[in-house]
Amino acid sequence: MPARGHDTASPAAPDRPSKAAGARHLASGAAREALAALRGALQRCRECPLGYFATQGVAGEGTLRPALMLVGEVPGDQEDLQGHPFVGPAGQLLFRAIDSLGWPREALYVTNAVKHFKFELRGKRRIHKTPSQREAAACLHWLEDEIGLVEPRAAIALGATAARSLLHRNVAVTRERGRWLQRDDGLRVLVVLHPSALLRIRGEEREPAYRQWLGDLRHAEEIVDEWLRRSRSAAGGGESHS
Ligand code: URA
Repeated sequence: MPARGHDTASPAAPDRPSKAAGARHLASGAAREALAALRGALQRCRECPLGYFATQGVAGEGTLRPALMLVGEVPGDQEDLQGHPFVGPAGQLLFRAIDSLGWPREALYVTNAVKHFKFELRGKRRIHKTPSQREAAACLHWLEDEIGLVEPRAAIALGATAARSLLHRNVAVTRERGRWLQRDDGLRVLVVLHPSALLRIRGEEREPAYRQWLGDLRHAEEIVDEWLRRSRSAAGGGESHS
């Protein structure tokens, strides 16, 4: 994620039941250490073939206990080379939308359902391929670990792969987009189109599709606003951030 190193401005515990209800939340230092360990372990992951061909595993980045965890499909060419999620064209569109919604990057954690780039070679070009269900299933434990450590208030699934990984079922994005769904652990998930789907739309149809996508994303506005209110009141004294 372009803006980094801001993992302190978070509100107190999220208002959803954790997996181990009643268990204490990890202190943010411990969660940061565990995420760093996860990032290291990811580099050694060969649970599916993708890890053999990618440059590196790309873990999520952003704030602990954010308002929103944004979950994409899989790192693309640029993400694979740079080692950060959403730094290529799809990320540029995503952050353009986020900026136009007025959501601060500090309110977010951005990651992917699948952690290694999947591609086929066409000449010298590496062309993105959609991960298979089996590859996404092999990768699921990394995402679930991230959710447990990051403790987002809610999640946004960008596209079908993310939606299936988060909700553990097939999701028809065009039918279920713009709706809040809920996981068994209580985490709420808003399903929207993947930004690459918008980039594939050519001509005059792209702008209305972009506006509709913004409208879908806007369903999470209240969560961001509430998170900001709590962060500001914590920063003004009282509640601890970490
Ligand atoms: N598309 C994704 O799903 N994730 C990225 O990180 C980049 C592009």
